[in-house]
Amino acid sequence: MLEKDLGDDLKSVLITKEEIDAKLAELAAAIDEEYEGRDVLLVGVLKGAVMVMADLARALSSHVTMDWMAVSSYGAGTQSSGVVRILKDLDTDIKGKHVLIVEDIIDSGLTLSWLLSNLGSREPASLEVVTLLRKPDAAKVDIEVKWVGFDIPNEFVVGYGLDFSEQYRNLPFVGTLAPHVYGGAED
Ligand code: XMP
Ligand code: MG
Repeated sequence: MLEKDLGDDLKSVLITKEEIDAKLAELAAAIDEEYEGRDVLLVGVLKGAVMVMADLARALSSHVTMDWMAVSSYGAGTQSSGVVRILKDLDTDIKGKHVLIVEDIIDSGLTLSWLLSNLGSREPASLEVVTLLRKPDAAKVDIEVKWVGFDIPNEFVVGYGLDFSEQYRNLPFVGTLAPHVYGGAED
């Protein structure tokens, strides 16, 4: 889909499809090197991480399996509440496995921080995180993230799995929304 198809809703394209593809290839090479000869369980966080998972998994040479978790950390608005609820738990026991959490975006970090302690308590052999996007200026907790695709400004972004009211997930790029879409002030 091209930018023009979105009319006035999109403010700008922040990261193009080509940039995402190149970054995922880079991340996959680093991940393959880290897990050389070991099986990895990729844990995707629904729904936002679907695109990252699909493209990253295909870029990896490592032996991987995939599982999914759905958590909810937001109320109605666009701010993380820090209160996390499991909507769908993993199907598999991760004890003794090398687990790699695949995230779309780390904003405040509250969701991931909760996820790390929850999954960590299940005694995986190792537990790491790869995220396509991170907003350093929005961090409320300090988390070790081994692989980060792009550090981005503290703006609400959509596309490539990320939504605003369930819309825009299918955009092949990451863009910022025009303030009128989410009720913010125009600048
Ligand atoms: P926290 O603040 O806990 O948030 O790190 C993590 C989850 O919040 C969602 N999120 C976003 N979704 N555009 C989106 O479409 C954004 O800019 C954005 N920031 C946070 C996302 O689900 C992420 O996993
Ligand atoms: Mg998410």
